[in-house]
Amino acid sequence: MLDPDRCVFFLSFLFFFSSAALLCSVHASCPPRCECSEAAHTVKCVSKDLRSVPEGIPGYTRNLFVTGNQISRIGPESFRGLENVTNLSLSNNRISEVESNTFAGLRSLRSLDLSNNQLAIIHPEASPS
Ligand SMILES: *[C@@H]1O[C@H](CO)[C@@H](O)[C@H](O)[C@H]1NC(C)=O
Ligand SMILES: *[C@@H]1O[C@H](CO)[C@@H](O)[C@H](O)[C@H]1NC(C)=O
Repeated sequence: MLDPDRCVFFLSFLFFFSSAALLCSVHASCPPRCECSEAAHTVKCVSKDLRSVPEGIPGYTRNLFVTGNQISRIGPESFRGLENVTNLSLSNNRISEVESNTFAGLRSLRSLDLSNNQLAIIHPEASPS
């Protein structure tokens, strides 16, 4: 038989792991250092020292703010699977280079804010067609 102390230990152990599993499943759909609201279709990754656009931004996202970070270049791989994004703000980064076809996958894009960057090179066909 388990003595009560061991039993309490075992239950705490179970509780810890189920809570951890729950937390992981809740956060699995949102990249680290971002805040995601499925109801508002909005993802914000603001002032988090990010060097690139995070991976794993959920497909429901319509408003995407990756502002106030340290991003220096963006390319087509930055926005994979984000067909629903209509508003994209990348303001206040250090973007100096925008590769060809960067925004090609953003089929719903209507508003793009690249203000307060250091744009030097915008490759041909970078903008949405
Ligand atoms: C985009 O939005 C539509 C309608 O809400 C949804 O059915 C679709 O799955 C979304 N796309 C992605 C990649 O999640
Ligand atoms: C998205 O962009 C539209 C116009 O381009 C604007 O009216 C709307 O307020 C924006 N939404 C958000 C959440 O920024």
